[in-house]
Amino acid sequence: MHNFLKIGHRGAKAYVPENTLESFEKAILLGADMIELDVHLDREGKIWVLHDKTLERTTNLTGEISQKSSEELGKALIEKKYKIPLLTEVFKFARNKCALNIELKGVGTGVAVAKLLSKAIRNDHFKNQDFLVSSFDWAELELFHSKNDQIPLAVLTEEKVQTAIAFAKEIKAVAVHPSKDLLDNENFNLIKKNNFLVNVWTVNAPQEILKFVQMGVNGIISDYPDRLQPEFLKT
Ligand code: G3P
Ligand code: CA
Repeated sequence: MHNFLKIGHRGAKAYVPENTLESFEKAILLGADMIELDVHLDREGKIWVLHDKTLERTTNLTGEISQKSSEELGKALIEKKYKIPLLTEVFKFARNKCALNIELKGVGTGVAVAKLLSKAIRNDHFKNQDFLVSSFDWAELELFHSKNDQIPLAVLTEEKVQTAIAFAKEIKAVAVHPSKDLLDNENFNLIKKNNFLVNVWTVNAPQEILKFVQMGVNGIISDYPDRLQPEFLKT
């Protein structure tokens, strides 16, 4: 079986509430090489790790994260006991443990994350390769690239492989991240022919994981990092 990157989706989303430090810890315990997480800015420009632009699905607050103060968000609770992490807290936690796939979700995250990553690399002994920055929001990716052209980038897509490849060339990305439904053999070959890595999301069913491993993808993003391990795939 070829080697591929085992990426925990929002941590180990199947086992511990998504995008929490505890979920990231679980993903590492289950053998993830990289953790995928989502980021938004609050009204003061601080970078928080949360999937939705609103707070009600996962926390005890309501409304848009971009309208909240850092103080309010610092007190928010996820399932009564977990905290929303700041991206800086995730950096501290992940250093020397695993790589991070940071998905830019909210407006303004491209520039803010680029600045924070430059600082982390300058001051905190991180390497460019410790990170992979991705987004469906290609404008944010472009803004990121304009501030930092050293960190590896990935273009997320669920419908347009050809345009994703063209844009990946423009911003000198290293990878295309297609949805599992988009990734047939033809699209896989097209992306590889253009010399990009292929990391597919979000693959949870064991048979589908096996199918993509056999296809030869470079990475799989899953809510179940344990299902990406060789021991599991052999059973
Ligand atoms: O990065 C892959 C995947 O996380 C994109 O979809 O909605 O889970 O952020 P979503
Ligand atoms: Ca995501």
